[in-house]
Amino acid sequence: MSQPSNNLNFVHNLLSQMTLAEKIGQMTQPEKNSVKPGDIAKYSLGSVLSGGGGNPTENNPRNWREMVLGFIEEAKQSRLKIPLIYGVDAVHGHNNMHGATIFPHNIGLGATRDVDLVRRIGRATALEVAATGVRWDFAPAVSIPYDIRWGRSFEGYSQDTALVSELAAAYIEGLRGENWNSPSSVLPSVKHFVADGATTFGSSRRISGDPNALQNDATLANAHVDAGMQALLSQGAWQLDQGNSEIDEETLRTVHLPPYQKAIEAGALNIMTSYSSWNGVKMHGHSYLVNDVLKGEMGFEGFIVTDWEGIDQIDADYYTCVVKSINAGIDMVMVPFKYERFIETLSKAVENGDVPLSRIDDAVTRILKTKHALGLFDEQEIPDLSVVGSRAHREVAREAVRKSQVLLKNEGVFPFSKTQKVLLAGSAANDLGAQCGGWTISWMGSHGQITEGTNILEAFRATVANPELIQYSEDGLSTETFDVGVVVIAEEPAAEGMGDRFELKLTQAHLDVIANARKSCKKLAVLLLSGRPYVITDHLPEWDAFVASWLPGSEGQGVADVVFGDFPFTGKLSFYWPYSQQDLKLAQESKHLFKLGDGLTTRVPVTL
Ligand code: GLC
Repeated sequence: MSQPSNNLNFVHNLLSQMTLAEKIGQMTQPEKNSVKPGDIAKYSLGSVLSGGGGNPTENNPRNWREMVLGFIEEAKQSRLKIPLIYGVDAVHGHNNMHGATIFPHNIGLGATRDVDLVRRIGRATALEVAATGVRWDFAPAVSIPYDIRWGRSFEGYSQDTALVSELAAAYIEGLRGENWNSPSSVLPSVKHFVADGATTFGSSRRISGDPNALQNDATLANAHVDAGMQALLSQGAWQLDQGNSEIDEETLRTVHLPPYQKAIEAGALNIMTSYSSWNGVKMHGHSYLVNDVLKGEMGFEGFIVTDWEGIDQIDADYYTCVVKSINAGIDMVMVPFKYERFIETLSKAVENGDVPLSRIDDAVTRILKTKHALGLFDEQEIPDLSVVGSRAHREVAREAVRKSQVLLKNEGVFPFSKTQKVLLAGSAANDLGAQCGGWTISWMGSHGQITEGTNILEAFRATVANPELIQYSEDGLSTETFDVGVVVIAEEPAAEGMGDRFELKLTQAHLDVIANARKSCKKLAVLLLSGRPYVITDHLPEWDAFVASWLPGSEGQGVADVVFGDFPFTGKLSFYWPYSQQDLKLAQESKHLFKLGDGLTTRVPVTL
């Protein structure tokens, strides 16, 4: 997107006044808990972020707004008063914040194939984010998951490149709204560049267990000793995420690059580099792909931000990490903790001539152009907090939930009548956290009533003529018999490499609750809350119906809408569904139980 000349004149004029220290300050993004009072002005820091779960002590919209505006106000005390931009991961709504509308994760949005809906979700998300003073959203992920053992599969819209490109562009347009300099427009960060979803199983080195290998990795430095982490590692955590994408250039260009081209055409002004490597070279230091391909060939005029401590993985020597990443085309560094060390190291690298001043000027020009395009240098009226969790936004989320439900088997089960008794089984039916998944209130997500929303049990009871028609049984056992029953089972909430798994199979607890409910129900449906397909081949014959519900978010009413026939099932798989544990990688030779595009529909009963 070419910038109006007044933008460039303004930026060049400002740049000419800046010291090297102020320029490097603009390239620095610490996490909010690390930045010391006065340092934003002292260093002219360009940005501050909240990581996953980076909430104010009391997590509510008012405190979020107060926290963020506090950082923004501090920047006005700097010598040149260059505005600070605050960033968050609003990957399915303003999801760290209690009370925000939580939309379905991307894998569910892919199943809707509804471009207009995704644009409306982007707009609603932008309003709730901007109402808290935040103008940068580290989304959309345009990942194309190849091996669905990857814990981040749910952040991908699809395994189909064209669908990812289309939905990502729509989300970007939604975040932008009328124009970038509107106070309710939010800067997207298209991520993670590039081929983050193509890594080879077992190639990740993030948790090597070797304390020396983690010297620059403050986030997971003790991972190899933490008991909780050991349990996750035994299930396969950190086998794939941040690993090595061993693909040829043609595959990279035809499968993984197109969504970035589409995003640039949609006006994207920020892209985040991936922790992963391409054929052994870390993306955070990949000059060919960042400088030559993305900024050169594809003409990207915005700025590149790293991932969280992303440059630290390039080399054991931090000076080398800084020099290689900035010379590779990185413009802003997400350095959550040791931001003074980064500033000192980059200053030294410039003084030594290892990083040319022209590279610094290019990076800062890109950052300032983007801030100017967003209108940050002007006084802007921030949207009112009343938009947060509004009825209108929750209705958009409910529509998305409806349209994301994929019905894969239905032998005389759906839609239910609203006057019949129903057995609803499984703890996940009464667990808002399970239906939201990772990146919700906390980084990993968690169980229970973690925010405002409607769980499936509440939704079912709100839909039928008499709430007592819905009998809830956590373990599936009942002394009564039922014409129909639904068992809701869920994947454990997780984020990033914490969610990598050796295999994708139902747990014994899942199978037990299904077996218990089976005894009381003439017709039994299973509803799976998960961030990816699971191998169900051997179990499906015992079920009369099956719904892939994905991670629907706060508006469980959308599930009831299709189960009870107020709306038809319309969702279509945007991922392949594996036949066995040997088929978890998308490849022509893999065997699929269901293929991309599968999904049954139902008729809405005619009410006379
Ligand atoms: C995380 C994720 C990235 C996120 C960033 C900031 O490690 O990889 O998707 O935007 O850090 O939270």
